[in-house]
Amino acid sequence: MTKKLYIKTYGCQMNVYDSARMADVLAPLGYTPSDTPDGADMIILNTCHIREKAEEKVFSELGRLKPLKSAKTDGDMIIAVAGCVAQAEGAEIMRRAPYVDIVLGPQTYHRLPEMVARAARSASGPDGKGRGILDTDFPAEAKFDFLPAESVAPGVSAFLSIQEGCDKFCTFCVVPYTRGAEYSRPVAAVLVEARRLVAAGARELNLLGQNVNAYHGEAPDGGTWGLAQLAYAMTEIPGLERIRYTTSHPRDVDEALIRAHGDLPQLMPFLHLPVQSGSDRILEAMNRKHTAAHYLSLIDRFRAARPDIVFSSDFIVGFPGERDEDFRATMALVEEVGFVQAFSFRYSPRPGTPAATIEDKVPDAVAQARLLELQDVLERRQRAFFAGMIGRTLDVLFEKPGRHDGQLIGRSPYLQGVHALAHPRLIGTIQPVHIKDATLQSLGGELVLVGTDEASAA
Ligand code: SAH
Ligand code: SF4
Ligand code: F3S
Repeated sequence: MTKKLYIKTYGCQMNVYDSARMADVLAPLGYTPSDTPDGADMIILNTCHIREKAEEKVFSELGRLKPLKSAKTDGDMIIAVAGCVAQAEGAEIMRRAPYVDIVLGPQTYHRLPEMVARAARSASGPDGKGRGILDTDFPAEAKFDFLPAESVAPGVSAFLSIQEGCDKFCTFCVVPYTRGAEYSRPVAAVLVEARRLVAAGARELNLLGQNVNAYHGEAPDGGTWGLAQLAYAMTEIPGLERIRYTTSHPRDVDEALIRAHGDLPQLMPFLHLPVQSGSDRILEAMNRKHTAAHYLSLIDRFRAARPDIVFSSDFIVGFPGERDEDFRATMALVEEVGFVQAFSFRYSPRPGTPAATIEDKVPDAVAQARLLELQDVLERRQRAFFAGMIGRTLDVLFEKPGRHDGQLIGRSPYLQGVHALAHPRLIGTIQPVHIKDATLQSLGGELVLVGTDEASAA
């Protein structure tokens, strides 16, 4: 009998990847993905703990699921909470939402079928009480060794997790606590998965890791490969047209990676390289272990290797002790780099992290004003970058049908969404598109018909 599985994903792309893997491990048990929670036999919330708001969302969503669970008459509903809130607050979830059946951390997904079997054997308590199954271990075995192949075909652009965890302990961040120590998957396993994804139709791979450029995988030649070496090897996979990777840390950028951007046309000229702040004093308090000048020198070196490369970043404003001059340094760095996209956040104190105990808090109103000022500049930059594409011809990798009839959507090399009228057989191919219009988030254009009379007449 097939059973309906609804997974709701919060947080970063690692969680998106993990949600797909959880669906894979549950497929042999008869669970098929559903896009609504109504009537689902199992619901998984794959949660994020990075900021306070992300955590609150989980508890309010659980509140909404409770009546669905009690209302289900045809069999039972298993509610599981996975991901980083589960890892950090497992016991608290069980206390505040006792109807939750399973709480599991990011490193135990491969054990999910066992947990589901245990849950199914023990009846739900009176009033929909949960089964209290909690597994937030950091097991010695790597979950990757136990995960099956994809149960659902990958899209044209697919995620591939190559590295996980973090040993950097930036003072504001929960990731080292929720995801555990840095771990790189072996090169051979990564290449097998890459080939499989490409054989199943992927044309672009987005290599994922919390510190993806800290990748150091055990290689078949007995050595250890960095991200650059892995990228060179991937370019030998026939049919793989584009490679991206995220998220990188400035400290782990090495000469080999910069050189790879110059050598490999498959490495896309868009790099997410979070800097967080432009002030050396704040960078130090954050334990980022690099200066603003070092960051700028990396940008210059990437540009020298690949002149059309563009950058995006994450920023935190209102970090404890941030003075106006620190914030000005951030604004100056933004001007200097000219990011084409960015995420910016107000500092959110996270329990158990060193920065949460720093006394010198920035008043909310000040942090909020800084955030708005920063976002205003970042948005103007992004708008200008998108508008600057009008009149240019971009190579677009088409991924899927668009919202309107006859339209396809895809991405430019710079990760911009682009729509154009095009035949569905062009999905999975890269086509030149002449850009006609732009919004803050997307581009629209017309296919340039290569090899036709029109093209040769032009
Ligand atoms: N590994 C990546 C970041 C992962 S978290 C890196 O090192 O850059 C994603 C982003 O969330 C961070 O870049 C940071 O900007 C933001 N973030 C993390 N912890 C935060 C906190 N406590 N408050 C506000 N923003 C935070
Ligand atoms: Fe968090 Fe810093 Fe690790 Fe990124 S490098 S995941 S910000 S501790
Ligand atoms: Fe959130 Fe965990 Fe990712 S805290 S950002 S889901 S690593």
